[in-house]
Amino acid sequence: MSAAAPRPAALAPGATLGVLGGGQLGRLFVQAAQRLGYRTVVFDPDPASPAGGVAHLHLAASFDDPQALDRMATLCDAVTLEFENVPAAAVERLAARRPVSPAASALAICQDRLLEKRHFAACGVPCAPHAAIEREADLAAVPDALLPGILKTARLGYDGKGQRSVPDRAALEQAWRALGAVPCVLEQRLPLAAEASVVVARGADGAMVHLPVMLNRHHEGILARTEVPAEPALGADLCAQAVAAAERVAASLDYVGVLCVEFFWLADGRLVANEMAPRPHNSGHFSVDACDSSQFDLQVRVLAGLPLAAPRLLASAVMLNLLGDLWFVPGSVKPGPREPDWAAALALPGVVLQLYGKAEPRPGRKMGHLTVTGDSLSQARAVAAEAASRLGLSVDG
Ligand SMILES: Nc1ncnc2c1ncn2[C@@H]1O[C@H](COP(=O)(O)OP(=O)(O)O)[C@@H](O)[C@H]1O
Ligand SMILES: [Mg+2]
Repeated sequence: MSAAAPRPAALAPGATLGVLGGGQLGRLFVQAAQRLGYRTVVFDPDPASPAGGVAHLHLAASFDDPQALDRMATLCDAVTLEFENVPAAAVERLAARRPVSPAASALAICQDRLLEKRHFAACGVPCAPHAAIEREADLAAVPDALLPGILKTARLGYDGKGQRSVPDRAALEQAWRALGAVPCVLEQRLPLAAEASVVVARGADGAMVHLPVMLNRHHEGILARTEVPAEPALGADLCAQAVAAAERVAASLDYVGVLCVEFFWLADGRLVANEMAPRPHNSGHFSVDACDSSQFDLQVRVLAGLPLAAPRLLASAVMLNLLGDLWFVPGSVKPGPREPDWAAALALPGVVLQLYGKAEPRPGRKMGHLTVTGDSLSQARAVAAEAASRLGLSVDG
């Protein structure tokens, strides 16, 4: 029997974990790190960032400020990130001095939809039929089979931003110009039966665990709700296929960290990968309240070199996203923001409210989420529907 490779020494509680980016994902990472006794540093230019406000230290500096990055390296024993568009140069500068996960090479792939799709294909994971539109001449070469389609910028898109629906060939050029004539991907619009996602965590030793498969519903390109378990809706086989695909995607990147892969389940029963995120994901938020270790706990464990144990689902759960729209009374003459009636929702058993500490609600802005746990999915759904109705939150079904 060959000897196992020595495990790198874990960072003991009291060490300092850093996160690049200060949004809600960074905030939930900080909270998980603090629960294990780590010190935390957030790097984000916004002085009012949700994560900066709860960390031990917030470096409010630009990602292209070399002195601030060097200070981050001095302060932290290891660094992770909470959004994929951290400039590669910043990650590389930090990585020269401290362990940074995920690696810049994995980030580069996740920052670009074309590279992402190429990676899926290389792993034998199907994705939507598509064509690259990098310059004007590519427009004419688009095969008819891709229309109607969705044009997406190759980089920097999120929450449905950087996308245009392209009903027919005549609309293609205008859509491309409207997106700034930048490199794009045109995807065939697929008949979706459902959307799902898988969060995997992979340690430096290659060990992998995953959260339960999540069933997601989007509204106008933004995640609206997530349900677990997904097996009753998708079937155990499809869920196992999704997990196996996500694990292949992570392993073949030699990925270290938390990775989310989003999937479409098509009307004809096929599963195709949509996109991936090199970090915890909005769809995994239920895990904070419904699992014994959350996606953020896993992110902390990977970064600190602690063992990864498979998270167990403690209850069925429904997660509802709370966007800034909820602060504006529909049809009101003076549509100023007003605080939603949290007390009405919190009076229901099984409802947990997580707000991200953002001062200014804006339509489409992710302000928080509700997780509803129940003894069964139907019970969690019923309570979630009641909570949504008490808040005036539309969850379309
Ligand atoms: N090819 C497609 N066919 C059908 N629906 C799609 C397609 N691509 C995206 N969508 C819908 O738009 C949502 C957002 O698209 P996605 O590519 O995940 O972008 P984002 O980075 O903004 O999340 C998806 O979750 C899905 O509901
Ligand atoms: Mg998406």
